Amino acid sequence: MSPRYAHITGWGMAVPEKILTNADLEKMVDTEDEWIVSRTGIRQRHIATDGQTTATLAAEAALRALEVANLLPNEVDLIIVSTSSPEHIFPATACLVQDMIGAGKAGAFDLSAACTGFIYALYLAAQAIKANGINNALVIGAETLSRLVNWKDRDTCILFGDGAGAFVLQASPEPGGVISSVLRSDGSGGDLLSIPAGGSRYPTSLQTIYDGLHYIHMNGREVYRFATRVMTQATQEAIEAAHLKLDDIELVIPHQANQRIIEAAARGLGLPMERVMVNLDRYGNTSTASIPIATCEAIQQGRLKAGDHVVFVAFGAGLTWGSALAQWSGPFPVERKVRPKRYRWSARLRSILRRLIRHIEGLIWGKNNVIL
Ligand code: ACO
Repeated sequence: MSPRYAHITGWGMAVPEKILTNADLEKMVDTEDEWIVSRTGIRQRHIATDGQTTATLAAEAALRALEVANLLPNEVDLIIVSTSSPEHIFPATACLVQDMIGAGKAGAFDLSAACTGFIYALYLAAQAIKANGINNALVIGAETLSRLVNWKDRDTCILFGDGAGAFVLQASPEPGGVISSVLRSDGSGGDLLSIPAGGSRYPTSLQTIYDGLHYIHMNGREVYRFATRVMTQATQEAIEAAHLKLDDIELVIPHQANQRIIEAAARGLGLPMERVMVNLDRYGNTSTASIPIATCEAIQQGRLKAGDHVVFVAFGAGLTWGSALAQWSGPFPVERKVRPKRYRWSARLRSILRRLIRHIEGLIWGKNNVIL
């Protein structure tokens, strides 16, 4: 079999319109703009309003990515949604996105690797393409962590923001696309960053709610130490695995958690900050959505062009960390101009029809088919 490559041919992002500034936070908890900016680099974050959820943001970002790639929703073979704030424990948020965008032929599942999840999802989709299993994949990072943050806890509530970003990956015999990936984990640090309750270990109860165990709990100093250690190392490993050198890399797009962590990683690499993408001042930490959102802005700013080598690197709860190196592609040349957003209504209609058919089938056969 001749080699196949997984190119990144589409990208899109979606963030809620509502903005929460550091000045707004000063009115909510005992904090100061100066403290937040000097310790994290964050000035504002976007917060989901009623009706906006992880799935709606993910679907919006996905449709934009499909538009860039000129790909129809029903040409997508696989949807992976990386998220730590899924709509439900099940069904998977990816299945809700599949329905919202009308991706009638796609398999869909969620991936839980916290802020590193987008790297893991990119790896899985690229491998499925390279192994000739599929041709087109949607990889989405989406979060509404504002719904899981304790807005009275100044240690955590200043950090996070909501948003989604998506890549389209497509198969091609032309070399390029996702070249190398590094995935790592260390569960011994699982307690450093967690939402303790709501799963099978501590099912939701009045007591877990009373104890605030349904909120994000974090040991900030330990996470910081871990992050500064692994970000440099993971970037170097992805470059080595691709048989390239740091000088070959036009841009590093790190997980946008903290300006100081990013600067420490760049120092460790000996990489000037001009070759590092940072936009956390305007979005805060959007967890697994931060890398695709930063990528969309890097492209808008002309900092990432076809042919460039880019490294994505992230760390997060788990503990997890990882990196991926890609040669940037851009959309494949095609004659047609696809506007996937127009398919939103047909997707809605399709969804209603399927529910109706299921209902009618239930009325016709339901009672007779009951297995006793
Ligand atoms: N405003 C004012 N003071 C504060 C605030 C606040 N919002 N939060 C904490 N402080 C205080 C602390 O109480 C402490 O006071 P004390 O010295 O009297 O005890 C002091 O500021 C210093 O606190 P530290 O925790 O040492 O502050 P630090 O410099 O470590 O910064 C921070 C804290 C920003 C959380 C940092 O540790 C960090 O960024 N850690 C990494 C967190 C992270 O990236 N998490 C996301 C991981 S990705 C994922 O999977 C979701």
